[in-house]
Amino acid sequence: MRDSQAFPSRATGDAGQSSKLRAERLSKRYGDFTALDELDLEVRNGELLTLLGASGSGKTTLLQVISGLVAPSTGRLLIDGTDITHTPPHRRDIGVVFQNYALFPHLSVAENVAFPLQMRKLPAAQLQKRMRDALEMVGLDALEKRFPHELSGGQQQRVALARCFVYRPSLILMDEPLSALDRKLRESMQIEIKRLHRESGATIVFVTHDQEEALALSDRIALMSEARIVQIGTPQAIYETPSCSRVAEFIGLSNLLKGEIVEGHRLRTSEGTFTMPAQASARAGSTGALMIRPEHMQLLPHGQGLAQAQVVETVYTGADTRVLLKTTSGMTLTARQAAGNRPLRVGEPASLAWRPDDSHFLAD
Ligand SMILES: Nc1ncnc2c1ncn2[C@@H]1O[C@H](COP(=O)(O)OP(=O)(O)OP(=O)(O)O)[C@@H](O)[C@H]1O
Ligand SMILES: [Mg+2]
Repeated sequence: MRDSQAFPSRATGDAGQSSKLRAERLSKRYGDFTALDELDLEVRNGELLTLLGASGSGKTTLLQVISGLVAPSTGRLLIDGTDITHTPPHRRDIGVVFQNYALFPHLSVAENVAFPLQMRKLPAAQLQKRMRDALEMVGLDALEKRFPHELSGGQQQRVALARCFVYRPSLILMDEPLSALDRKLRESMQIEIKRLHRESGATIVFVTHDQEEALALSDRIALMSEARIVQIGTPQAIYETPSCSRVAEFIGLSNLLKGEIVEGHRLRTSEGTFTMPAQASARAGSTGALMIRPEHMQLLPHGQGLAQAQVVETVYTGADTRVLLKTTSGMTLTARQAAGNRPLRVGEPASLAWRPDDSHFLAD
């Protein structure tokens, strides 16, 4: 890995403590349609926060409002504690990388990267040095004379990243910057972005609708649904303790057993009555669902576990095998079988079990 001097680290000091960006009751309406609905968000200094959500949930709209390209209908935006709701985009010190990297086709790689510095009228010697440092950071110093059409998609994406980082904005917005790339390139660019984030100390708001990407990249994830943020937390918290079934289903595969709480801290479902996780608090008579991730579902010989089922499909993924099972009441559940176990056949009876504390209760 290159050890570059291009970006003196600002990651020390108050990283993670103070607020870099704050949205207060931010709304955006288009006619009768509400694209952002009284949304509150705090992004901490130096963190990489991902906005994750289904198509149409308002992710791009939120970035557009933060960048100043779109004015909010109501609400306030603060950067470093200063109200910037009415500040024009070019005075916000925000870098933006969008999905279609929008390089200037008639400018070389070097000229593309130098462009933001020219706009800021940097002296020539300083401009050259910064431009070279930025190109070196993304590993493109050898290609500086090429034009965008002479680069691969991934190389173009790197130029876009260099062009954004070169003028050292303290806040960077990225809207699905990797969605056009193939899986392998995407994964290596994710590592690149993590490194650029760490070395620059910049605060990054990253948009994706890919939950694996969000889990891999983020310090925190804000899950958006229908113009609001429904949960915000570390990837681990969002994955292991989702606040509602919408979040649970959006982040990874999950098994949800719906039912009613009965005496003895148990949940009565169509599959049987199961012990609740110890930390869950719920009154008898209330309803909700137990969430059990596939990796916590143990596969046992028929008759031994908590729920009886039959194998309906197996999907080999290399690292493990995803096993889909249908229970006696007709519900489909998913388990993961680690490599090295006896492969299960479709149609074979099996049984499922889990430790109560590996389940998570979602109240209705
Ligand atoms: N200029 C506009 N006029 C009217 N409606 C708009 C406008 N811009 C966005 N919308 C609507 O606002 C909603 C949110 O759009 P937005 O682009 O923020 O979604 P998104 O979460 O970025 O989705 P995707 O994952 O598909 O990019 C959508 O229903 C969209 O149709
Ligand atoms: Mg979008």
